[in-house]
Amino acid sequence: MKPRYPYYLASRAVNANEDLELFDKFTGALVSKVALADEAAIDQAISAAKAASPAMAAFPPYARQAVLQHCVKRFEERYEELAMALCVEAGKPIKDSRTEVTRLIDTFRIAAEESVRIQGEVQELQISERTKGYSGMWKRVPIGPCSFISPFNFPLNLAAHKIAPAIAAGCTFILKPASLTPVGAILIGEVLAETDLPEGAFSILPCRREGAELFTVDERLKLLSFTGSPSVGWDLKSKAGKKKVVLELGGNAACVVDHDADIEDAVDRIIVGAFYQSGQSCISVQRVIIHQSLYAKFVSAFVDATKQLVCGDPKDEATFIGPMISEKEAARLSGWLDEAVADGARLVTGGERDGAMLRPAVLENVSKQSTLYREEAFGPAVILSSFDDFEEALADVNDSKFGLQAGIFTRDIYKAHAAWDTLEVGGVVIGDVPSWRVDNMPYGGVKDSGLGREGIRFAIEDMTEIRNLIIRKP
Ligand code: SIN
Repeated sequence: MKPRYPYYLASRAVNANEDLELFDKFTGALVSKVALADEAAIDQAISAAKAASPAMAAFPPYARQAVLQHCVKRFEERYEELAMALCVEAGKPIKDSRTEVTRLIDTFRIAAEESVRIQGEVQELQISERTKGYSGMWKRVPIGPCSFISPFNFPLNLAAHKIAPAIAAGCTFILKPASLTPVGAILIGEVLAETDLPEGAFSILPCRREGAELFTVDERLKLLSFTGSPSVGWDLKSKAGKKKVVLELGGNAACVVDHDADIEDAVDRIIVGAFYQSGQSCISVQRVIIHQSLYAKFVSAFVDATKQLVCGDPKDEATFIGPMISEKEAARLSGWLDEAVADGARLVTGGERDGAMLRPAVLENVSKQSTLYREEAFGPAVILSSFDDFEEALADVNDSKFGLQAGIFTRDIYKAHAAWDTLEVGGVVIGDVPSWRVDNMPYGGVKDSGLGREGIRFAIEDMTEIRNLIIRKP
C-alpha cells in the first residue's frame, strides 16, 4: 500500500486538497490516504467524458482490445500487490483476495474478447407489398458517457464489471468507488493511465456521498450503473432522470438441499457460500431449506464445520473469516441476531462479536417476520429450516422481496427444470450454492434485487444503442 493515492480526473492522476483516510479493516490502523474529489472535480470529469465521447466511439475495436489486453498483462504482473491491497482495505482474507484478482483478470480478458465481436444484423424488411424494395440492417453504437458507482465488497472486480465493458463498447465513464475501499479502483486507474485511451475517457473519483449527486442527476451522463444496497439503488433510480439505469442490488439468497443430495458435498459448498468473505456478497447463502429426511444429519455436520472455521487476521493464509467491513455493520447484524432470538429463534452456534469480527452464526426456527429473515444480512449468518415437499421449498425460496440467485442441490433433472421455471430470480444454480458466479454469465436480479444484467456481453448491450439503417431501392 502506498502512503497516498491520487484520483484520476480526465485520465490524469490528480492530488487534491482533501484526502480520504484509509484504514486497515482488521487492525484499524491508518494505512494510506486517497485524494477526495469535490463537486467541481466531478463536474470537470463529466465535461471531459462528454468531450471525449466522439473520440472514444471512433477508437477502433482492435485498439480497445489492446487497452484491455494491456490491463490483463499488468494485473497479472501486479497480482500479489493487488491481492494485498484488497486484503488490507476490505479486510478480505488473502485467499479470497487472490480469487478476486483472478476474477478481475477474467473480467478484463472476457471484455478484450467481446470488444471485437459487437455485432449487428441484416434484417429482411420486405414483409409485404408495401415494403417492396426496402432493406434494413442495424448495428450497436456506444450509448455515451456512463456513470458508475461500485461497492465495498469486491473493490476490484465489481468496478471491473463496469469499466471493462465500457471500454469494450467505446463509452467514456466516470466511476465513484466505495469510500471505505477506494484503492482497488484507483489501481485500475493507474493501469488505464498507461494506455492510449483517448484523453479524458475515464475518471475515477472517490468522493463523499453528499457531493456525489452529479453521478446520478447530471443529464450529460447517459447511463447509471450502480452496485450496492437496495435502498440506495432504488432511490438513485428515482433521481436519474432520462438516463438508462442498471441496478445490481442485494438479496437474501436461499439454497434448497433435497433428499437425494450428498450431505458432505452440500455442507462443504454451503459453508463457503454462506461465510466466505464474512458473507458480504449479494449472493451469499442466507437461508438453507433442507429436506426433512436429511435435516438432523445436515445440521449436525454444518454446525461442526462452522465451528471449525478459522476466524482472525485476513493476512494469515489459514484465515477463512476476517472482519466485516466496519464495527457498525457487525453491530447492526448482531442486533438482528438478538432480535431473531428474542422472537423465538435458536442460535445453534456463533454470533459472538468483537469489534468488526463476528463469528459465523447458524440459526434455526427463525420467524419469517424477523428482520434477519426478510432483509439482506450481508454478513456471516445463516438460517436453517426444513421442508417435506419440493414445491413447498420453491415457494419458500420465492417468499422474499429479493430475487438474485438461488441454489438447488438435487440430482433430479425435472426438479431442476421446475426450479428454473418457478423461481423468481436472475439465476438458478443446480448442484451448487447461489453464491457461484462466473464473470461472463448474465448476472443480475429481479424484484428488489435490481434491473438489468452484468457479465460483459450483457453490460455491453446496456452500454450500446441499436442504430438502424434503412435503404430504399428506387
Ligand atoms: C455481488 O456481491 O453483487 C457480486 C458477487 C460476485 O461477483 O461474486
